[in-house]
Amino acid sequence: MELTEIGFDHIPTGPDRDRRISRAQATRRMGSKIPPPYPNGWFAVGESRELKIGGVSAVDAIGQNLCVYRGEDGIARCVDAYCPHLGANLAVGGNVCGNCIECPFHKWRFGENGACVSVPGVENAPKGVSIKQWPTVERDGAIWIWYDAENRPPMWNIEEVPELEHWGYRGRNEFIVSAHIQEIPENGADVAHLNAVHSPSLVSSLGEKYPLLYDLIGCHVWSASWTKGDDHTASMTLTHDYKIMKCHLCHIDVKVTQIGPGHVRLFMQSPVGPILVSQSVTPLAPSLQRVVHRMYSPTHNAPLAALLVKSEGAMVSIVGLRGERIGAGPGRHRGLGVSRDDSRPV
Ligand code: FES
Ligand SMILES: [Fe+2]
Repeated sequence: MELTEIGFDHIPTGPDRDRRISRAQATRRMGSKIPPPYPNGWFAVGESRELKIGGVSAVDAIGQNLCVYRGEDGIARCVDAYCPHLGANLAVGGNVCGNCIECPFHKWRFGENGACVSVPGVENAPKGVSIKQWPTVERDGAIWIWYDAENRPPMWNIEEVPELEHWGYRGRNEFIVSAHIQEIPENGADVAHLNAVHSPSLVSSLGEKYPLLYDLIGCHVWSASWTKGDDHTASMTLTHDYKIMKCHLCHIDVKVTQIGPGHVRLFMQSPVGPILVSQSVTPLAPSLQRVVHRMYSPTHNAPLAALLVKSEGAMVSIVGLRGERIGAGPGRHRGLGVSRDDSRPV
C-alpha cells in the first residue's frame, strides 16, 4: 500500500499531485538545531538470507554509497562503493572472488581488509591502495555496519540472542518513515501516546464511529515505563491487554531494549509463547528512515508471530492514516507518519 500522501491532505487531487507532494517534502523546513542526521551506531544494510555466497548488493544509506558482498567463507563484508582506482561502482557489476571483491572496470581486487591484492598484468599489487571497509556483523537476520562520524571503531558489540538458535523467522514488515532518526526512538519513549493513538481495536473501527459499541468491541490498553541503561542502551517494560467490557484478555508483557539509535529488541511474553521483534532503523536521507521489524518465535508459537506480522503492518498503516505525528518539537521539522507498508508473507 502506498502511503506517501500521509500528511499532505492539503494538496489537492490532480495529475501533478505526486510531484507537488515531493516538492513539499523537499522544501520542509528543517530548523536550525536538528541533531546529526547520521548518529554513531550500528545500522542494518540488508537481510542476511538475501545475500548468498558470491552475492553483491548496492546500498545507499547513512550518507554513503556502499557495496555489501558475501565471500566464499560465508562472511558478509561492506566496502565503499567507489573504486579507489578510477571510481567505478563495485556494487554494479563487481564480482566476488574468494573473499575479495573485484572491480568491474579494470579488475583490481580488494581483499578481506580492503587492501588492493591484485591488479591484472602487474606482478605486485600497488602498496598503500585500499578501499574503506566498514565493520560488519550479522545479527537478528540482518547485516549491520558500524557508522561513526569520526571513523572510530565500534563502541559496542551487538550481542547475539541465544534463543534465535532455536527460534524460526516468521516474517518482516518494512516502512519508509519521513522523519529524523531521533524521532523514531523518541516516539517509542513517548509512552503517553500509546493509549491515545494505539487504543482503538484493530479488529474493527466501528467502536470509534459508534461509541455505544466501543465496550463491546473492546480496545487495547497499554502501560509502560522507561529506564536508562549504560551509554548506548535504554529499556522499557510494556504491558498490553485487550479490554472487552471489564475483562482483560490477551495479556502480553514486553521487555524493550533500545540499543543505540538504530536497533531495538522487543521480547514479548504472550499467553501462547514468546516472540522476538527486532527493529532496525536505517537513515536513507537526513529525514527519511527505513524501519524494519523482523519477527522470531518458537515453532509452537509461529501462528501468533505470523499474525503479529500482519496486524503490526495494519496497525502502523492505520495509525499512519490517522496521522500520528512522529515528533514535532520546537526547532524540529515535523516528521510525519508512514509512507510505505511493504509487509511480506511469512
Ligand atoms: S576503476 Fe576499479 S579497477 Fe579501475
Ligand atoms: Fe505509535
